[in-house]
Amino acid sequence: MFLSSSEGYPLTKLNKPADWNNLAVMDKKHVPKVKAPDTVKSGEPFKVQLKVGGIDDVEQPNVLSHYINWVELYAGEHPIGKIDFAPVMSNGYNVKISITLEESTTLRARAFCNLHGLWEEPREKVTVE
Ligand SMILES: [Fe+2]
Repeated sequence: MFLSSSEGYPLTKLNKPADWNNLAVMDKKHVPKVKAPDTVKSGEPFKVQLKVGGIDDVEQPNVLSHYINWVELYAGEHPIGKIDFAPVMSNGYNVKISITLEESTTLRARAFCNLHGLWEEPREKVTVE
């Protein structure tokens, strides 16, 4: 099966903004942002916020024909969690999860839009003391 959207965003390709300092509307709708403390204590839980889209208030639609399927969080290359969204019934794409780290790493999120495929944000460094 050939997976492709009609707007030039193949479902099989990882999408990233071409210019992080000048985001296109599609970037603003789809890029998942990770918000975490810069420094945490080893083994102590802390909260990580994952928000998909909404950059400059440009929101991703949430209808049956166009929505964010899921967002994943990674510590380095290790998957930590995945949240699935139901279209229409989910109230936006903004979640918090609690995690613990034993060593410094980078956090990153990936999100999947049913029409525009996979999107990733730049990595967020977390230092463990
Ligand atoms: Fe989309």
